[in-house]
Amino acid sequence: MIQHKQLENGFEYIEISNEASQAKIALQGAHIFEYKRKGEEDILWLSETSDFEKGKAIRGGVPLCWPSFGMNNPDLPQHGFARLGMWKVARSQETDSKTTQLVLELNETPESLKLWPYRFHLELRIRVSDTLCMELTTTNTDEREFKITQALHSYFLVSDISDAAVKGLDAKPYFDALSAQTCVQKGDVVFMEEVDRVYQDVKEALFLSDKNRVIKIQNEGSSSVVVWNPWIEKCSRMSGMKEDAYLGMVCIESANAYGDFKILKPRASHTLKALIS
Ligand code: BG6
Repeated sequence: MIQHKQLENGFEYIEISNEASQAKIALQGAHIFEYKRKGEEDILWLSETSDFEKGKAIRGGVPLCWPSFGMNNPDLPQHGFARLGMWKVARSQETDSKTTQLVLELNETPESLKLWPYRFHLELRIRVSDTLCMELTTTNTDEREFKITQALHSYFLVSDISDAAVKGLDAKPYFDALSAQTCVQKGDVVFMEEVDRVYQDVKEALFLSDKNRVIKIQNEGSSSVVVWNPWIEKCSRMSGMKEDAYLGMVCIESANAYGDFKILKPRASHTLKALIS
């Protein structure tokens, strides 16, 4: 079932339900804010105190950072503007009883052109099944080339941050955004303090292991992965987040960030894909 719903304040979202899974996707930002397999716990973390209103990013789920990751382009707002844009449903399809597909699209607007002077076509293809597949395709519809950095900024639910570990990054170089140093990962990534890192040269699948489950993340079109947990102090000053929220979440972001930027010539496309299983 694919239902178009709205909250009392007019905030619109699409609710998907099939025999294998369910998901909710806000039109603002093409933001997936719920995904779970039938009868199981949520895969994505969503803040209990998140805003659901025009002009404010949902805290949790999968915000889209585009056309700039973080402050990679200092002329743009943090994480770009696509997460606050009003996307349109281009297509939807119930492929079989366990699989639903939804395609959302965003083009330049007079406001986006003021921030970033390029015409573009963005498409997010979402496949909701016993796995969650997200493919974000950027097409340059301008006459000049442009440069993007981006991320599928997935927030994952963990039972307790002290049991969480990200596997698959051993020996990978990373840029530590906290110290501004480049370091090399030793073993699994575990969380005992604030972590804000951009791993490089990542082609292999990653695994988020927790007390009760293991989530696999396989990216394509990307060689950078951001791992982030705000920990105590940053969490207490973040919007839409309770003080202790850092205990139950970890972000593993499928990215084209920092040196892994993409330059697109007119009419060229690039797809960033993440498969979560
Ligand atoms: C992460 C960054 O990708 O996003 C963090 O690495 C940042 O530094 C976090 O704090 C959340 O960003 P925002 O803009 O959603 O508060």
